[in-house]
Amino acid sequence: MKNIFLKIVFVCACIMIPCSSFAQEAGDDIGEQIFRKKCSGCHGRDGKTQAFGISRKLAEMPSSEIKDRLTLFYNDKNLQSSGGVSGVMSKQTSALNKQQFDGVLSYVQKNFASDKASR
Ligand code: HEC
Repeated sequence: MKNIFLKIVFVCACIMIPCSSFAQEAGDDIGEQIFRKKCSGCHGRDGKTQAFGISRKLAEMPSSEIKDRLTLFYNDKNLQSSGGVSGVMSKQTSALNKQQFDGVLSYVQKNFASDKASR
């Protein structure tokens, strides 16, 4: 009897520990996954590629500008141009829900922004 009780406690602990640490990092994880799948092809895994040879390098932008630019693309799904290539980025961001958008924005700000060290 005691054995079964111990087993139940053990199984519960095994389920709960990874779940809680996962929940804490979920935002960053989502951001990282999205960046790798949907952004790094053009902007580089390290944010140092000029997409299509014309975008700025994410790694050279302050985090406030990254936010401004990305929010602009996200909010205006039909944005034709924001001084760059017609609609490319609006297409990229319009497929994201709010949680995914916030996740990838924060990932880019934390990992690439030129002022990331001072944040
Ligand atoms: C198909 C290639 C492509 C993909 C994929 C892509 N981008 Fe871009 N991105 C561009 C281009 C081209 C520009 C510059 C175009 C413009 O300003 O309209 C740009 C601009 C940006 C800018 C503003 C930089 C500047 O030059 O002002 C940010 C921030 C950005 N992208 C982030 C992202 C993020 C985050 C993702 C993933 C969700 C992503 N991009 C996916 C091509 C891409």
